[in-house]
This record gives sequence, C-alpha cells and structure tokens, in this order.
Amino acid sequence: MALVVLGCGWIARRHAAAARRLRLPLIFASRDADRARRYAREFGGVGAYGDYAQALRDSRARAALVCTPHDRHLDDVLEALAAGRHVLVEKPLARTLEEADRMIAAAARADRVLMTAENFRFMPAFRWVRRALDAGLLGERREVHLVARGWRRHAGWRLTPDAGGGALIDGGIHYVHALRWWGGEVRRVFALRPPQTIADMAGEDAVALLAECEGGVIAFLSNSLGAPGLPRFQWSSVTGTRATCFVDNRGRWALVRGTDGFRLRVFWRDTRGHEAMLRAFGDSMTTGRASETDGAEGRRDLAVVLAAYRSIAEGCPVTPGC
Ligand SMILES: NC(=O)c1ccc[n+]([C@@H]2O[C@H](COP(=O)([O-])OP(=O)(O)OC[C@H]3O[C@@H](n4cnc5c(N)ncnc54)[C@H](OP(=O)(O)O)[C@@H]3O)[C@@H](O)[C@H]2O)c1
Repeated sequence: MALVVLGCGWIARRHAAAARRLRLPLIFASRDADRARRYAREFGGVGAYGDYAQALRDSRARAALVCTPHDRHLDDVLEALAAGRHVLVEKPLARTLEEADRMIAAAARADRVLMTAENFRFMPAFRWVRRALDAGLLGERREVHLVARGWRRHAGWRLTPDAGGGALIDGGIHYVHALRWWGGEVRRVFALRPPQTIADMAGEDAVALLAECEGGVIAFLSNSLGAPGLPRFQWSSVTGTRATCFVDNRGRWALVRGTDGFRLRVFWRDTRGHEAMLRAFGDSMTTGRASETDGAEGRRDLAVVLAAYRSIAEGCPVTPGC
C-alpha cells in the first residue's frame, strides 16, 4: 500500500529518499503533473498525479504525507482524512490551535492516524540525549540551551503572513520540540525579537526565548535566520547536576561530559531521523497506537510557539495554551 506525497517541493525530496531506502511505494501529487512525474521517475514512484484529490483517491493509497506550505496544512489534512487516508503532516502541524484542534478531531472521527513529521524526535543523536537523561547520567536536569542561528534568505510563501509567523514557527519549532522533550512541559515563556534584518519577510527573522519548564528547569532558545557569518556547526546542550550533554544540531554526534567522565557517540545512519519517522508512522498505522509525535504533540509544540509570539507582542511572560 502506497504513501501519497502531497506537494513536490524541498521536504518532499527528503521523505521520498527515506521512503525509497525503506522500499515504501510512493505516489506523487503536484499541482503540476510534469513535476509529479519527474519526482516519480527520480524516486521510483508508482504513480504521479497533477491533482491532489485524484491522488488521494488512488486505490493503492494507504496514507498521505502533507508536504505543502503552512496555510494549506488544514485543508490538505482534512481532504486526506476524508479520503480515508492516515496522515503524516509536516511541521508545524498548523498555524493556530483552532486549526490543530480541527485536524485532531477529524482524525479521531475518521479513526485514522494523524502524526506530525517532527523528525528531531527520531534523530538518533537526539534520542541518545533523552536516553542519557532517563539513565540519570546528567543527574537532576537544570538547564537546556538551544542555539540555531544562521543566514537563510527564504523566498515565496515563507515571506508572507500566510506562513503563520517567521523563523520560530518554521525551523525553530524543531528546537521547541527538543526543548519540551528534554526540559519538560513549558509553564511560562518570555520571548523577544531583535530588529529585523531580512526586511521583506512578514514574520520574525530571529527570536530569543526563555522558558520555565516543569520542575523549575530553565530553557533558552536562540533561533535566527538573519545572522550572517556564523558557522553551520552548532550544538545544543542539556545540563544536570552531574554532567552536561552536548549534541550536534545536525545529529552527527553527542557527548556527555561531567563529574563521571566523558562519553562520546558518533552517528552515521539516518542522522536526520527521516527513516525512523516513517517506520514510526507505519507502526502507528498498523497497531493503532499513537506515535510519539501525534497530533496532540504537534499541538503542544505549536502552543509554545504561539505563546512566544504573544509574549513578543505583549512584552510579558505567557503560559502556553492560555
Ligand atoms: N522537517 C524539516 O526539516 C522541514 C524542512 C523544510 C520544510 N519543512 C516543512 O515542509 C513543508 C513544506 O516546506 P518546503 O520547504 O518543502 O516548501 P516548498 O519547497 O516550497 O514545497 C512546498 C510544496 O507545496 C506545494 N504547494 C501547494 N500549494 C502551494 C502554494 N500555494 N505555494 C507554494 N507551494 C505550494 C508545491 O508543490 P506542487 O507545486 O508540487 O504542488 C510546493 O513545491 C512546510 O510545512 C515546512 O515547514 C520541514
């Protein structure tokens, strides 16, 4: 049974490459039939359509991968569910909590899986951080520090208000997910944004976010698209009472360093977690069990992003979801 890829853009290529390695049959849907055929040729797809709805009706389709801009996620997810397909939707799940709730309710009504394609959750290096925490290697957790800053000149839909925001709701939401996963649920967020560098972008090009998580853990996230001159080599860290765990943002290594010495792990395979994510989606469809990044989890990430936006607008700390 095949997966229908809705939207033949950049991230669709990552999913298609992972699906091909896992030998999962793919059907490509594009607004442009030629593009769908090109992707099908390149990634060994079993079908190609110039229309999303037609592709979803293909009797071989079991699920849909929504790889479209943020303002299309709601409609594309609802259409896929209405066609009886399980759905893996790119992050952010939605642009508002209301949109997220509509998707979650529709998936429950249709008795279909709704999973957020939060690949950071499936990156082997990032999972190793979580295991180090669970094994007590860091002691009691105290601080999470995430830095993802660089220069990225976007074009097209990402520059418009339809994206639902700027850096944080786009690439930054991955780090919000890691922050919650390693630091615990966010109780309060205070966020600021510097003066804009990328003038033609409707959303923010940079944000600094300070969060208070459960148990008093403090997390800091600095995320920027408007910071020229920085190396791509950046890492995040979690500090506990006994050690700090550092992890390469691109998932190639992680290390723990502290009072009990030093442990380094290097990762070679599926470093961005796309294969593991597709396997988890498959498991969820087969067993009916919620995946680690189900709709509710995508909604919680979004709630933190939206709280940060409100904090920026109001100049005070905000509790996510309130
Ligand atoms: N997990 C990650 O690391 C990661 C990285 C990048 C992006 N993403 C997410 O993936 C989604 C797509 O991002 P992307 O970078 O792949 O974007 P992209 O390269 O612009 O691709 C989006 C595709 O959506 C389709 N589309 C449908 N309606 C459109 C419209 N009105 N305007 C533009 N495109 C439209 C187009 O495909 P057709 O013309 O073929 O229909 C387009 O190629 C977003 O949710 C984004 O946040 C995730």
